[in-house]
Amino acid sequence: GKGAAMVTAVAYRLAEQSRQIAQTLAEFQLTKAQLLEVKERMRAEIQRGLSKETHELASVKMLPTFVRRTPDGTENGDFLALDLGGTNFRVLLVKIRSGKRRSVEMHNKIYAIPLEVMQGTGEELFDHIVHCISDFLDYMGMKNARLPLGFTFSFPCKQTSLDAGILIKWTKGFKATDCEGEDVVGLLREGIKRREEFDLDVVAVVNDTVGTMMTCAYEEPTCEIGLIAGTGSNACYMEEMRNIETIEGNEGRMCVNMEWGAFGDNGCLDDIRTKYDEAVDELSFNAGKQKYEKMCSGMYLGEIVRNILIDLTKRGFLFRGQISETLKTRGIFETKFLSQIESDRLALLQVRSILQHLGLDSTCDDSIIVKEVCGTVSLRAAQLCGAGMAAVVEKIRENRGLDRLEITVGVDGTLYKLHPHFSRIMHQTVKELAPKCDVNFLLSEDGSGKGAALITAVGCRLRQQEQQ
Ligand code: GLC
Repeated sequence: GKGAAMVTAVAYRLAEQSRQIAQTLAEFQLTKAQLLEVKERMRAEIQRGLSKETHELASVKMLPTFVRRTPDGTENGDFLALDLGGTNFRVLLVKIRSGKRRSVEMHNKIYAIPLEVMQGTGEELFDHIVHCISDFLDYMGMKNARLPLGFTFSFPCKQTSLDAGILIKWTKGFKATDCEGEDVVGLLREGIKRREEFDLDVVAVVNDTVGTMMTCAYEEPTCEIGLIAGTGSNACYMEEMRNIETIEGNEGRMCVNMEWGAFGDNGCLDDIRTKYDEAVDELSFNAGKQKYEKMCSGMYLGEIVRNILIDLTKRGFLFRGQISETLKTRGIFETKFLSQIESDRLALLQVRSILQHLGLDSTCDDSIIVKEVCGTVSLRAAQLCGAGMAAVVEKIRENRGLDRLEITVGVDGTLYKLHPHFSRIMHQTVKELAPKCDVNFLLSEDGSGKGAALITAVGCRLRQQEQQ
């Protein structure tokens, strides 16, 4: 009868709908062959970044950091550290004690960087930073101590020494003017001078990956790689000096800040990027840049999800076909929400309440689809990150002419720490794609600040040696 026909029609529509959703998500599913290909391409880009002839045009910059060894426990002293470029801006006091009972004690304060400062002039940004340092010194009651400072500045910098770093390009939504092409240590020193209130000795500029590696290496000497899977995505590792053709010298090793977020900027990942990745890129402040980072990191995963949801809504599969103002809002799906939505312990009802909290009115079916979309996007992110890491450990293994390599990666970042599946999938992928390497992952506690202090300690000692 008529009723039966209607039921059939509805059933047909639903089946067709799930087929179309599955088809949309299938674009994000990578085969092992594709992941191996990504690893190979990363390997090739590493080479291009290291070689003198290709470095200028390479997208993965492989920047020398002038950090030549990991800590050995002899580091000692009191240091200030700044941490700019992650989820929070922080000022820290780090007390490192060497010897039998070595220890690290830290005090820190988190400061907000208002959007208008992030996107104002460089002078305003650095004045704000110095203002925060001033507040911190008051808070600690040490305005008159002239402490050495390590500046964790988590953006691509061309370093010519430990204490000089020219900002190549802002990433992750920062866009203060007059900073690109400038030495950020110089900008910081000028800011300190302008304030005429205290004096500091800026000893090192440090990428967060390097700080993370150093912090973990302090506890675990086999740690020679640093990884950040957070707001941004990047890695560093100890490379042989003889392979770093962009600087003089062939002896020993130096830590290289890969800036692997820019992997794909030459188009080499275009075959796996989807139209949603393209949309996210086009809507970002740095369109055409950091393409791998935009597939792998916390700042963009939520944006990919949002773009898929908008598309599915337009096609009538979600939210009763209504695109709300909320769904149009950039940045609504922060890492912490994605992590909650994907948590296995969460009932669908709770997924719905998270969506509700974000201002998205969902049915039970909607929440199932949203969770599936999140899962698909974060799975790919973890696998891509794993493929990149597989390339790095393979490179180190070959550098050292080993059949097997045992190595530790120091890791930090909100995505790695908060997401319920990211770390496991990433580890698994490295295992599958680099079977000749035994890779341990060590979570870094407060990596960037402590690491900056450790590097500053070494920097101070080198200075003293030079002066003698
Ligand atoms: C961005 C920055 C890089 C940093 C990473 C993680 O990719 O360019 O320097 O290490 O984010 O914070």
